[in-house]
Amino acid sequence: TDDHAAAVARLILDIPDFPEPGVLFRDLTPVFADPLALRAATLGITEPFAGRFDHIGGIEARGFFLSGAGSALTGAGILAIRKAGKLPRTTIREEYALEYGTAAIEVHEGELEPGAKVLIVDDVLATGGTVAAAARLVERAGWEVAGISVVAELEDLGGRALLEDRYEVFSLLKF
Ligand code: PRP
Ligand code: HPA
Repeated sequence: TDDHAAAVARLILDIPDFPEPGVLFRDLTPVFADPLALRAATLGITEPFAGRFDHIGGIEARGFFLSGAGSALTGAGILAIRKAGKLPRTTIREEYALEYGTAAIEVHEGELEPGAKVLIVDDVLATGGTVAAAARLVERAGWEVAGISVVAELEDLGGRALLEDRYEVFSLLKF
């Protein structure tokens, strides 16, 4: 995991004042663009939960890169956790606050078998609002949260505190 972390860390770019003044944005697109770094990021966030999940819940949009790669590397299925309004059948919805703005995400009711074990993945854990909403969706749908795993945790924003008493939380890198 130290090797995975190092391979990923060197490619993350720090972008000041995006998307608004005062926010230091961690840009992971170079990680996604580099085959070995994408593999390292994906293995790095899935290996700590090996054998304990049957689906990977990636959160639209950047979480999809990781659920797709993670599915290919581990053999797990993908749970689509989508921004509101995109899924065609009956959905369960959760709203949440972001570091900048608000949003809502959804899953299809009944998409997985009851008790399915879902590893929730995303690129960045900031305030934690997004992955917390995803975890609530998984539980309301009747599935289990196997864990929450992210590539980069922004520690100053305190997201972990919101999650840690209920879920196992892993981050490959901390900033
Ligand atoms: C970013 C990021 C996480 C979330 C982290 O996504 O990819 O999903 O914010 O923030 P939080 O911990 O404060 O909730 P964003 O909502 O910008 O959407 P995108 O993936 O569509 O770019
Ligand atoms: N980088 C990427 N995604 C984010 C960030 C960030 O710094 N903050 C909230 N979502």
